[in-house]
Formats: sequence, C-alpha cells, structure tokens
Amino acid sequence: MSAASVVISGMGTSIPDKVVTNSDLSRVVDTSDEWIRSRSGIAERRLAGEKETASTMGAAAAEKAIADAGISKDEIDLVIVGTMSPDMPFPSTACLVQAQLGLTPVAAFDVIAACSGFLYVLETGTQLMRSGNYRNALIIGSEKMSSILDWQDRSTCVLFGDGAGAAVLSLSDTPNIGVGQILLRADGSKMDLLNMPAGGACIPPSAESVSARQHFLKMNGKEVFKHAVREMGDITLETIEKNGLTPEDIKCFIPHQANIRIIESIAKRLGVSMDRFYVNIDRYGNTSAASIPIAMWEARQKGRFGPGDNVLLTAFGAGLTWGGAIVRWTA
Ligand code: UT7
Repeated sequence: MSAASVVISGMGTSIPDKVVTNSDLSRVVDTSDEWIRSRSGIAERRLAGEKETASTMGAAAAEKAIADAGISKDEIDLVIVGTMSPDMPFPSTACLVQAQLGLTPVAAFDVIAACSGFLYVLETGTQLMRSGNYRNALIIGSEKMSSILDWQDRSTCVLFGDGAGAAVLSLSDTPNIGVGQILLRADGSKMDLLNMPAGGACIPPSAESVSARQHFLKMNGKEVFKHAVREMGDITLETIEKNGLTPEDIKCFIPHQANIRIIESIAKRLGVSMDRFYVNIDRYGNTSAASIPIAMWEARQKGRFGPGDNVLLTAFGAGLTWGGAIVRWTA
C-alpha cells in the first residue's frame, strides 16, 4: 500500500421495495421453491418498479454513501458506475447519476464487468485517486437485472434481482489502511457462456432479434458454475497471499452472491468456517455488480467487521471476469 491510502469513507444502498418470492415465480415459469432454494440458496429477490433504473437506484445509494462519509456533494469529483443493465446504451449511467445528484461537471463513466463490476470500479477509482487528481470518488454497482432477464427462461430468471450499492473513496494520510492490492482477471474467449447477444453492433435491434429473444441474458449455468468455483477459489487465495496475509487474518469474507454452493465451496477450499462469510443471497438473489456493496454495507451494519479488520471481496461474472480485493476497514 502506498503512503497515501485510499479508504472507503462512506457506503449506502438502494434496494427496491417489491419482494418476489420463489412461490411467486412458480406462477410465472415452471419452477418450485424447493428447486430454487436447493440449487442456488435464493428464497426471494427484490424487483425494481417501472420508474426505478440503474441510475435512480445508483443515485439513491450514492446520496446515502455521501451522507455516511460526512462530506458534501461538492466534494465528489469522480463518478464511476459498474453496471450490465444501464438505463440506455449511451450516455453512461454515471452521467445520469451525476445529473440526478446535481454534481458539478466532474468526470463520470461506466465500467462493464458484469458481476465483477464492483471490484473493477473499486480498482479504477482507487488508482485514479492515487494519481492525486481527485479528492473523493463515488463508486457504484447498480443493476436492474429484471430489465434484461427472459421471463420465459426458468434457468436464468429465478436467479437474479435488482438493487444498488455505493461507496465513497477518500484519501487518508494514515499508511496501510483502506484498499489493499486488488487482483482483476478476464477471459473473453469464454464470452459465449454468459452474455446478451443483441442490442450492439453484432446484432443491432430488429424485429427479428426481438422475436428471437436475443435482447435477454443467456447463460450456460453449469459451465459458469464450474469456472466460478475454480476461479473465485484461486483468486481469493492469491489475493490473500499478495496482500501478505493468511485466511486467518481475514475477519469477514464478502463474496459475490451468485449461488450459496459456490460460496460454500470457497469456504471449504480455504478451510474457513461459513460463519466468516457474509451471505444474503437468500433475500436478494444475484444482483450482479450491486451484490458486493450491498453485502458489505449490511455486514458492516451488523458489526461483522470494524475498524482495523481485513475484509476480503471476491467476484466472478460475464466476460468472463473475476477478481479479489482486500480492504482494511477504517470508518
Ligand atoms: O453471477 C454470475 C455468475 N453466475 C453464476 O455463478 C451462476 C452459476 N450457475 C449456477 O448457479 C447453477 O448452474 C444454476 C443454479 C444456474 C443451475 O444449477 P445446476 O445444479 O447446475 O442445474 P442444471 O442447470 O444442471 O439443471 C438441472 C435441471 C435441468 O433439468 P434436466 O435437464 O436435468 O431434466 C434443468 O432443466 O434443472 C432444470 N431447471 C429447473 N428446474 C426447475 C433449470 N432451471 C430450473 C428451474 N426450476 N428454475
């Protein structure tokens, strides 16, 4: 860690009010509460209303994060949003968040790294902060997954949920606190395992693409599962080692919430009790880029970690992308 540390000085979330249970979904597609719970660990998820989008949920989470950091909006000079369900192809959701928050014309852009989005925005924000050009950065993971799900495809629509989480990154003179070394990985050769085929230049929107349901998320769940178990396990161990720590030094593990069986496999591989892993997939499903900041905020609220504790974050998603990060908590 460099002398000028980058710390998470505030966090906030925005979670839609509407709760949809597995039983509710069994009236939409041929599924059951038993199948969804046993295969994924999900009991219910939140779905956004018509007027809620990645930008509105992101801005609401950001407002809370700014208040939590105890700063004013004028002190934010960078906005980065991780999302795979943006309000529109362009402009970026970050620009829409910036407008909704009424910020001055500070830099704003999106990062697409799917479910690894929060780790990618954490690294991007941290490194830009270390350039010395910014005082406080807003990093956000926000998703309206319900807008890109095929509600006729039971193999995917039961797994995801909507929501947003945000963090404020600030500089601190105290050495060796805050964001440690982050490891990011990608393997685009496996892009066929999880993607949305249409809507870009390869398959521009057309009546044919819509009737072929190509504007929805497609996933080869079994293959993604295998890669997630292996890569998240490997990157978690590597991240701990690169930061000069051992699994025993980690107070709380915050994995991306895609499947309870993936989380259990990482815990087993590390020889760490599940008590040290924060899990909320049962209540929210997979909220993609929002899953880590929502889980981290909740874990902090519940006292699962505090000042001086090492928190490990790990994620896996479309791209394929994956990564790991250590945060030594300060606030
Ligand atoms: O966050 C990004 C990364 N995403 C992930 O990490 C997700 C990774 N994948 C997974 O979590 C799991 O693969 C799933 C939860 C998606 C599926 O679990 P699985 O144990 O791999 O099940 P499967 O895909 O092998 O499906 C088993 C059976 C199939 O029926 P047959 O062919 O065995 O007769 C499916 O048709 O379950 C059937 N099935 C369902 N049945 C009831 C698939 N979806 C459903 C459903 N309800 N919703």
